[in-house]
Amino acid sequence: MVKSDPVDIVKVVTIFILSISLPILADDRVDKGERLFNQNCVFCHQPDAIGKPGLAPSLTNPELLEISSDKYLMSTIRDGRKDTSMPPYPHLGREGIMSILAYLRSHDRRANRAVEVDAQEQAQGDPRLGQLWFDQICATCHGPQGDGYLAGGSGTAIGKSGFLSKVSDGFIRETIKVGRSNTRMLPFQGPAGLADLADREIEDIISYMRTLEE
Ligand code: HEC
Ligand code: HEC
Repeated sequence: MVKSDPVDIVKVVTIFILSISLPILADDRVDKGERLFNQNCVFCHQPDAIGKPGLAPSLTNPELLEISSDKYLMSTIRDGRKDTSMPPYPHLGREGIMSILAYLRSHDRRANRAVEVDAQEQAQGDPRLGQLWFDQICATCHGPQGDGYLAGGSGTAIGKSGFLSKVSDGFIRETIKVGRSNTRMLPFQGPAGLADLADREIEDIISYMRTLEE
C-alpha cells in the first residue's frame, strides 16, 4: 500500500472543497444581487434590467458592461444621479451593491475593457463646434444641455454632473462610436450609424459636454 502523508490529504481535501464551494459562493452572490435588484430597481430598470425609454436605461446591454469599471457602476448605485430620478442607495452597503454588480455582470461575460477605455486620452476638441453637433443631433433625445428625461426625450442626463463626474472621456467616446445595442442609442460611426461622425467631430462634442458639468 502506498503510504500517503496526512498533510497532503488535508491539502487535497481542502483544494477539492474550495473548488466546489467557490463557484457556489459566486452563484450565491448573483442570486442575492438578483433579489436586491428585484426589490429596489426593477420598477424602473425593468426585468433583466433591459430598461425602458424615458424611464430608466438598460443596465445589461453588453456595450455598457464592457466599458464600465466596477467603480463606475458601484458609485453610480451608491450616489444615484442628482437632478434625475435615479435615487442613491448607500443603505444597501458595499456588500449589497457588490451583489447587484455581480448580478448585472452575469448578463454578459465579455472581457471588460474599462482599464483601457478609462486610460484613453482626454478630448482636445473645440467646444463651440461640439455644441453645434450636440444641438443638432444629441439634443433630440438627450435634451438641450443634456438635461435627460426631464426635457422629455428618451436619452439620459449626459450633461449633468451625476454622469459627467463619474466617467472618463474614453467612456463617452466609446459610447458615441459604438452605441448601445437594443436601446435607442445607435452608433455614430460606421455605416450602421445614425450619423457617421469623424473622430474630430466626436472630440468636439466631448469637449462641449465637459463645459456643461457644473
Ligand atoms: C435617438 C435618440 C438618441 C440620440 C440621437 C442620441 N442618443 Fe445617446 N443615448 C440615447 C439613449 C436612449 C441612451 C441610454 C440607453 C438606454 O436607454 O439604455 C443614450 C446613452 C448615451 C450615453 C451614455 C449615458 C449614460 O447614462 O451612461 C452617452 C454618453 C450618449 N448617449 C451620448 C450621446 C451623444 C453625444 C449623442 C449625439 C452625438 C447622442 N447620445 C445621441 C439616445 C440617443
Ligand atoms: C425611480 C426610478 C429608478 C430606480 C428605482 C433605480 N434607477 Fe437606476 N437609473 C434611473 C434613471 C432615470 C437613470 C438615468 C439617469 C440619467 O438621466 O442620467 C438611472 C441610471 C442608472 C445607472 C447608470 C446606467 C448608465 O447607463 O450609465 C445605473 C448603474 C443604475 N441606474 C443602477 C440602478 C440600480 C442598481 C438600482 C437599484 C438599486 C436603480 N438603478 C434604481 C432610474 C432608477
